[in-house]
Amino acid sequence: MLKIGMIGAGFVAGFHERSLCSVRGAELAGVCAPKGAEALAKRAQEDGLGDTRVFKNVAELCDAVDVVCIFAPNFAHLEIMRNIAKAVEGGAEIKGIICEKPLGRNLQEADVMARMGKALGVPTAYFENQLHMPSVIEARRQLTAVEQNMGAVHLSRSAEEHGGPHEPWFWDPTTQGGGVCCDMGCHSIAVGMYMLTPGGKAPDYLTPVSATANMALLKWGKEPWISQLKERGVDYKATPAEDYSNVTIEFKDPETGVCSISQATNSWMYDAPGLRLLMEAFGPGYSYTVNSLQSPAGLFISDAAATAVADSELALEKSQASRGALLLHHNEPDLYGYITEWRDALSAFEQGRNGMLDFEYGRLITLLVMAGYMAHEKKKTIDLTDPAVLQSLESYVPLIQQGKGKEVLLGA
Ligand SMILES: NC(=O)c1ccc[n+]([C@@H]2O[C@H](COP(=O)([O-])OP(=O)(O)OC[C@H]3O[C@@H](n4cnc5c(N)ncnc54)[C@H](O)[C@@H]3O)[C@@H](O)[C@H]2O)c1
Repeated sequence: MLKIGMIGAGFVAGFHERSLCSVRGAELAGVCAPKGAEALAKRAQEDGLGDTRVFKNVAELCDAVDVVCIFAPNFAHLEIMRNIAKAVEGGAEIKGIICEKPLGRNLQEADVMARMGKALGVPTAYFENQLHMPSVIEARRQLTAVEQNMGAVHLSRSAEEHGGPHEPWFWDPTTQGGGVCCDMGCHSIAVGMYMLTPGGKAPDYLTPVSATANMALLKWGKEPWISQLKERGVDYKATPAEDYSNVTIEFKDPETGVCSISQATNSWMYDAPGLRLLMEAFGPGYSYTVNSLQSPAGLFISDAAATAVADSELALEKSQASRGALLLHHNEPDLYGYITEWRDALSAFEQGRNGMLDFEYGRLITLLVMAGYMAHEKKKTIDLTDPAVLQSLESYVPLIQQGKGKEVLLGA
């Protein structure tokens, strides 16, 4: 039985607690967070996930668990990793470290995270749930023979969209790392690259060739939205971020030389039901699509009954309405791939190896996200085969992340 310890007890930790209810051989042994730890521990106990205790700090948590998870805001990932490293150097016996996306706000941070993981000699798992979505896995499995006969996918389109994040730190580009491209582009870029990757090859198999991008502030820079953000402590007049992002990346198969393209589109202005994940993969003579909003179930709540629904978020992640025809998903942790990513990481850690996606992979995704910001900022295609460009990405911090988004965002 692996003892899990979560650092951070907010939105995503809650999702992972639900996911662990469907994972064998794991106990949620500890939680450590400035806010929400007691409530999460109580829920885990009620769900039979073990004798979940609240820990005062990372060092004490690490002493009591086998697997430690970084489920805190992006700006805290690196500091937490440093504290985990101190605990391991001080004798804590950890079998695995998990970090939620994005690994870091920029490549410098992601690079340190990946190097620390290697130096500690502790297996890592980068949590990017979309590659573990059962719909994506099953589509790829059913198409295995078709792909082998016809050739790999040559065009992928991926999108994640919702109406905007739940906590102010996500909106602040200095704490989160940017706007929607850093927050959700990392998902869509990762799954887009995966859809192009031939079956049987590693998730970092393809060679990135170039990146182009277009980003803008379309909705949240306008009234009344900008004032609503101000009331939540977010100032988009002073430090705006992009609420729309479109990143196109060209890849090359290093063995065959065949080129492929992924288009990742993300927005925080999806004024429609819930959170939509949309994926399309086109191969020679075949294709597959995934639309997370296609559910076999639905709900209807009339105006008369709506007052009975206190919180629309209780219904579905990022739902914006609490009446009318509503979406119903019977198992969101399964739909989005959380359960599968846990099973993958824990079985890998049991065998002393990295998860399917490790911190080095998380670093690669950060590089691609940064290439997107650089392409938008410079208004040109970024050549990812040029060593000088790759070197400049190492220390690059996007203007938007620096709090200077006004200089580069249409609408800001
Ligand atoms: N895979 C996904 O789809 C997905 C979805 C949401 C969030 N995330 C990622 O998960 C992480 C957490 O996001 P969230 O939505 O849960 O945020 P949140 O704001 O809802 O919760 C953050 C939690 O971390 C705690 N925290 C804050 N600073 C801390 C620190 N220095 N040390 C330890 N704990 C600290 C807070 O008290 C809170 O319990 C982020 O990296 C985010 O990008 C991933």
